[in-house]
Amino acid sequence: MSVQNNQKQPVTINTLSKLKKEGEKFASLTAYDFCSAYSVSASGVEVILVGDSLGMVIQGHDSSLPVTIDDVAYHVRCVKRGNQGSFIMADMPFMSYYAKDQTLENCALLMREGAQMVKLEGGSWLSDFTKLLVRHGIPVCAHMGLTPQSVNHLGGYRVQGRNPDKAQEMIDEALVLQDAGAGIILLECVPRSLGTRITDVLDVPVIGIGAGPDTDGQIMVWHDLLGLYPGRPAKFVKNFLDGEPNGIQGAISRYVDAVKRAEFPGPEHCYD
Ligand code: KIV
Repeated sequence: MSVQNNQKQPVTINTLSKLKKEGEKFASLTAYDFCSAYSVSASGVEVILVGDSLGMVIQGHDSSLPVTIDDVAYHVRCVKRGNQGSFIMADMPFMSYYAKDQTLENCALLMREGAQMVKLEGGSWLSDFTKLLVRHGIPVCAHMGLTPQSVNHLGGYRVQGRNPDKAQEMIDEALVLQDAGAGIILLECVPRSLGTRITDVLDVPVIGIGAGPDTDGQIMVWHDLLGLYPGRPAKFVKNFLDGEPNGIQGAISRYVDAVKRAEFPGPEHCYD
């Protein structure tokens, strides 16, 4: 079987910054293997995330905690082979960034396999690691709000930043991370108003999942977009395959269009 090469101008961190400046939305989606990466990137999705959600949707665990750096490295390798010019971000899994040397080595492994940015979960405490990584040429996305690796500390997968003090704290921490050099902030499961405030206050692009329609980009998990994951979906999930005559490719294109036209997420997918 031969694979058609649809290579367009590759997306870089500069592309995403330019889109933010111009007020244009961008789409992100997870992918974990060659074929999903090929479909996602060929459909015009700007950012592919090799997420540690793979622990749940690929490996069948009940959280992302068992995922290792070698698991993520393996999936980055597969995704890189299918990628047609999207920007590849890779998750640093649970406990893969507790010490400086260990963090540098683990990030270097993901970058060598094909990641173009690493994503770490946390707040302002990540700023020293962020400075260190950026100094070594490794772009950083800081994942804030609901950070699934801390599910046991948070007491469940809950909306974060509902309380005004907590919301202000999150805004301040996002600014600290931007100052430390974070190139993207990813916000998960926060009230729409907080998603809007953080997006407005930051110069770097903000990607949201359950953070309302005003963030610069949106992200979804591949299996949620296609309605493949069993159980009750989160409020921010939409099954784009439902009623789609053109199958998986049609569902991805519908998602990309809906994000770019700011039609997704709708009010029914937001927290207030
Ligand atoms: O691992 C993942 O898929 C993620 C998304 C939920 C943003 O971090």
